[in-house]
Amino acid sequence: MKLVLLGPPGSGKGTYSSRIAKEFEIPHISTGDLLREEVKKGTELGERAKEYMNRGELVPNEIVLEILKQRLQQPDCERGFILDGFPRNLEQAKILGTIATIDLVIYLDVPDEIIIERLSNRRICRECGAIYNLKSMPPKVPGKCDVCGSELYQRDDDKPETIKNRLEVYREQTKPLIDHYKEKGILAEFKIEKEIPVEEGVESIKKLIQEKLNK
Ligand code: AP5
Repeated sequence: MKLVLLGPPGSGKGTYSSRIAKEFEIPHISTGDLLREEVKKGTELGERAKEYMNRGELVPNEIVLEILKQRLQQPDCERGFILDGFPRNLEQAKILGTIATIDLVIYLDVPDEIIIERLSNRRICRECGAIYNLKSMPPKVPGKCDVCGSELYQRDDDKPETIKNRLEVYREQTKPLIDHYKEKGILAEFKIEKEIPVEEGVESIKKLIQEKLNK
């Protein structure tokens, strides 16, 4: 199963992908996480990517493609994968079409009010990357990860000004992918009108995947 989770920043791509990946025993590949890893390691690619990420802009395609292609060559991708945060513009979608046959694209349609509330309260584990929310999914011990006990931090791009820019970039460059995948007949839509518990969202997405598998 080769899946793509498409949606605006804060729509739950990372939260849902990590759970779906476990259920279906396929790797969760987040280009945002891969890029943050390069930044953390201080590689040349990471240094180049950092300035775009901090402004909430898309990192140039050649940088993202280089790290993504390396990841997709790993043996764990043979059974399929779930892509989170890729593709993000038409050029990336076209290139993805040449390297993999995507079975299903799940579009998370979430209104801006929910996104802003979610992103301002998001905290992430520095060590294992687990995602929390101070309001809807707080850690058991404040500031510490439930899974590994490490420190939680707020992403640099979760500041109000950068969130605004990320939403604009999403509307201009990523939203056109909805029509692109609709035309290909592989888009399934998951519309969220009011905040829902994460588990409820996971169940809805699992149902969309099962429907596709049963076709
Ligand atoms: P990336 O890391 O991909 O960020 P994003 O797309 O902006 O998405 P987020 O990670 O912010 O949100 P999410 O949808 O994963 O939501 P989450 O599950 O965390 O990219 C970062 C940057 O890297 C980009 O700006 C760009 O510069 C660069 N980049 C990455 N990929 C690129 C590419 N392909 N090309 C070019 N540049 C690229 O959830 C958010 C919060 O909500 C959490 O706190 C969570 O706990 C909470 N939450 C989620 N779901 C629920 C729910 N159902 N109920 C209650 N709370 C919920």
